Amino acid sequence: MMNYESGMMKSSGTSAGVTTRWRVIDSIVEAEVLLRNAGVTDTSRLEAEVLLADTLAVSHAKLIASYTDYLGAEERAEYLSRIARRLRGEPVAYITGRKEFMGFTFRIDRRALIPRPETETLVEHVVEQVRSSERRTTYIVDIGAGSGCIAISLALLLPGATIHAVDISENAISLARLNAAEHRVSERVAFYIGDLCSCLPDALRGSIDVIVSNPPYVTDAEYPALESGVREFEPMVALKGGADGLDLFRRITAVAREYLKAGALLAVEIGENQADEALKILRRAEHFTEMRIIHDLAGRHRVITGRKTE
Ligand SMILES: C[S@@+](CC[C@H](N)C(=O)[O-])C[C@H]1O[C@@H](n2cnc3c(N)ncnc32)[C@H](O)[C@@H]1O
Repeated sequence: MMNYESGMMKSSGTSAGVTTRWRVIDSIVEAEVLLRNAGVTDTSRLEAEVLLADTLAVSHAKLIASYTDYLGAEERAEYLSRIARRLRGEPVAYITGRKEFMGFTFRIDRRALIPRPETETLVEHVVEQVRSSERRTTYIVDIGAGSGCIAISLALLLPGATIHAVDISENAISLARLNAAEHRVSERVAFYIGDLCSCLPDALRGSIDVIVSNPPYVTDAEYPALESGVREFEPMVALKGGADGLDLFRRITAVAREYLKAGALLAVEIGENQADEALKILRRAEHFTEMRIIHDLAGRHRVITGRKTE
């Protein structure tokens, strides 16, 4: 078996009296070729390495330093089974069970959407706005919490924040609760299962400083064209947003009026082609001012914000 302590990965597998030894680098190259030929990813080498590092529970740097060491038979079998899952289109994060978001590591599985890097734009904006308000306590509602990545990141980055996180999916909330416990923020993040704000305590009406949401916003026409790995493995309820993708946004703008304080912030992630329509919806909802569209790092429209009028 492998000896990580000494930095050596030496092992062998025995079959019918023949000893087979698998070098780390050869296993990576083999997996890289399989992934590339199957056309499941544009980053086959990186994914081959990430999945092997995960199998061996070593860092990426340590894996690279160990190219000429050997895999054990069990490690090799486990690696091949992970590669087989990837070849069937399963996203890497569901195979490793982890995803980085805002510099924090979240436990991820098929109960919830995999956090996307563009959603960091939404979280960064909320953090910046809350910090600049100099409020000591902030009450935040996260609609469509999923894995809990937004709510928990906000709790970690804003020590004065109390967060009410809602999702219609019981499965998603069970995963989010686990993530909150692992990040030790369960005392400041309350979870609810239900449609939008329907299950929040009535006492919260008119008392919320921020409503943040990354709702499902893929249009009915876009959905069939999504990568098969997304369609087949990620929950449909986390993705589909109706004919123009803005069904939930329309409903959120109506509910936000009831829950936000005067001057409070609404910040919602949108699809890159939805800014014009989203602005129209927010204007029509009345009660909102200071409307803005924020771009993500790729320069695409990504977040719409507004403040509740006095
Ligand atoms: C795009 S995912 C976002 C998940 C997570 N916040 C993130 O950013 O990775 C949208 C989430 O909204 C939830 N959702 C869909 N319809 C909902 C509704 N009517 N009320 C509450 N949550 C809803 C889905 O279950 C899903 O977890």
